[in-house]
Amino acid sequence: MEGAALETVQGWLREARHIAVLTGAGISAESGVPTFRDAQTGYWAQFRAEDMATEEGFRAHPARVWGWYQHRRQMLADVQPNAGHRALADCAQKHPGRITLITQNVDGLHQRAGSAEVLCLHGDLMEDRFLDLPRPCCHPDTVKAGSPPHCPRCGNLLRPGVVWFGEPLPWAVLEAAQQAARGCDLMLVVGTAGAVYPAAGLAHSARAAGARVVVVNTAPSELDYVAHAVLRGRAAQVLPALFGADSLR
Ligand code: APR
Repeated sequence: MEGAALETVQGWLREARHIAVLTGAGISAESGVPTFRDAQTGYWAQFRAEDMATEEGFRAHPARVWGWYQHRRQMLADVQPNAGHRALADCAQKHPGRITLITQNVDGLHQRAGSAEVLCLHGDLMEDRFLDLPRPCCHPDTVKAGSPPHCPRCGNLLRPGVVWFGEPLPWAVLEAAQQAARGCDLMLVVGTAGAVYPAAGLAHSARAAGARVVVVNTAPSELDYVAHAVLRGRAAQVLPALFGADSLR
């Protein structure tokens, strides 16, 4: 990370009345949560997204997919938010209304770091919902244990409350994120490969609406060409450096 670039971006942050932050799996990497697309360590180096992150994959092998999500849930119990999550939460607390935090992550680490009102584009790993439209017999309190748990009367399966490939994003959340992207003066794009839409499209929207766009990533991303500046480095180091000494003042 070059000092001059950091100072330039700090200047832009000071000038910005409204800042949108879009985060991806990279911000949680230093908490010990695997990313998806990093070579070797990413989930999609081990598994096929079609198998583990689509409705078709779940219907074909519900026990296998449920087991993988259970494993990821258990792993979250052992990890903590890192300095990157905390820098964003602290800054938002000091400057209410100035930052809108939008995340593709389902790990809840932004919220655990103290960020309120996080726009979670891809749902919440810790939530469950029924796979098929719930009938009157389907009640979360009466599900029969199993892998996955299911309604004892009709067999409707529980599934994780995340957004799978091919599924729509929660409408109101996406709408709020798009408004923030179109209305911000600066968008920080942190730890995302920028390969999944509509999330990645938010950076394009921000740029098209006249905002400055800054990418923070350890490696090249598909959104680097949209950015006015790229800060090459780890989120847990770059974000505290950016927001340290209250650079928004
Ligand atoms: N700091 C900053 N960036 C990092 C760090 C780090 N410590 N470690 C890794 N990265 C970067 C990688 O270089 C990569 O560009 O984080 C990015 C992670 O990319 P992905 O694994 O593709 O994660 P993400 O962009 O969040 O994926 C989007 O894809 O599979 C779906 O639904 C899933 O929400 C996810 C979506």
